[in-house]
Amino acid sequence: MSGIFITLEGGDGAGKSTQAELLGAWLETRGYEVVRTREPGGTRLGAEIRRLLLHGGEDVGDVDPRAEALLYAADRAQHVAKVVRPALERGAVVVQDRYIDSSLAYQGAGRVLEVSDVRRISEWASEGLRPQLTVLLDVDPEVAASRRESRGGTDRLEGETDDFHRAVRQGFLELAEADPDRYLVLDADQPAEELNEAVIARVAPLLSAL
Ligand code: TYD
Repeated sequence: MSGIFITLEGGDGAGKSTQAELLGAWLETRGYEVVRTREPGGTRLGAEIRRLLLHGGEDVGDVDPRAEALLYAADRAQHVAKVVRPALERGAVVVQDRYIDSSLAYQGAGRVLEVSDVRRISEWASEGLRPQLTVLLDVDPEVAASRRESRGGTDRLEGETDDFHRAVRQGFLELAEADPDRYLVLDADQPAEELNEAVIARVAPLLSAL
């Protein structure tokens, strides 16, 4: 595949969307085709799955951890097959909010499932598609919580306990430590412009492959 696949990860409220927007704009001014997308919810089927997962409320009741992991994997399978792979085959740069690492951190480290099981179903769902670069915007869960409050409204996962969010953060940091070639870890408690510069410094060398 000739394109470049970049994912952004981090806790809720870490500023991923802002960084995705800034990076996308920078790439576009340089003439690259950019596909900005996200999981869950990057396809029509995925939007339905996203609604069930995050805003299902009493319509869906208590969601079993395995069911939750499979729904994220189903969203991923559809998204990779219908959006991400076709874009990469055209030579586009895909800039994506959240991917497999979110499943490993939220469903694995944050819940009761084995990380290795979550990895297996996600890799099956994506047929092993891996990003060339994953930017982890690392943020203290308490700082992120106050950002979310100022943004208003919480979904089901955002309403989880502080312990859950701390476990998720730890999960991301361990994934990054195990795979330093793929990861760029940034302290998200910096101005957006500075974060953007650090992201660009890491992305620029990848573009020569296009
Ligand atoms: P979203 O609003 O996209 O993220 P953010 O709050 O960072 O803007 O919400 C997606 C939620 O789904 C978020 O709480 C993380 C969670 N999630 C998982 O638990 N597993 C996954 O595989 C993915 C992709 C997301």
